[in-house]
Amino acid sequence: MNADPEVREHLGDLLTREQSDASVSRFQAEFDQRGYGWWAVEVAARGEFIGFAGLDEVDDHMPFTGVEIGWRLARSAWGQGYATEAALTVLAHGFDALELPEILAVTTATNLRSQAVMRRIGMTRDPADDFDDPTEPEGPLRPNVLYRITRTART
Ligand SMILES: CC(C)(COP(=O)(O)OP(=O)(O)OC[C@H]1O[C@@H](n2cnc3c(N)ncnc32)[C@H](O)[C@@H]1OP(=O)(O)O)[C@@H](O)C(=O)NCCC(=O)NCCS
Repeated sequence: MNADPEVREHLGDLLTREQSDASVSRFQAEFDQRGYGWWAVEVAARGEFIGFAGLDEVDDHMPFTGVEIGWRLARSAWGQGYATEAALTVLAHGFDALELPEILAVTTATNLRSQAVMRRIGMTRDPADDFDDPTEPEGPLRPNVLYRITRTART
């Protein structure tokens, strides 16, 4: 999944096996430390791993702070509603168990599939919140959009 150019189109460089494994170790450590993070997503009927979804603290270099929701699925799992289903479960955990007042979502302006998931789970975008990712050079990964949902506005 992390070595698939289609999956990585809006994320940056392809990852090697070592980099991908290291990111999973980091996810596990963060989860243990904070009590929330990235969950593996499986198709329950088959027990098949198809990707991950979860919550993370917004990176320090972003022009806002908060907790963001995210998702990444293997290409073969796209187009079946799995990201939306997983995201709704993550949102429920964020609002009901963690009692977060608001959850954010960030992606590149060109990542229309991810933005469609954001809208499907009830998040909204104010174009005034659009921003350039300061860590990215000029190019398609630099213009980003921000979606939000508050606990009270949840569908
Ligand atoms: C972003 C990503 C997770 C979205 O995946 P997705 O499959 O498009 O999203 P969903 O799982 O919500 O599925 C929606 C599609 O399934 C269809 N679908 C079928 N059954 C459905 C159901 N029960 N509920 C919702 N949608 C359903 C929808 O009609 C939609 O079809 P479309 O793609 O033809 O419009 C995926 O493209 C991805 O992993 N991209 C690479 C990583 C990435 O960019 N992550 C985000 C970084 S911010």
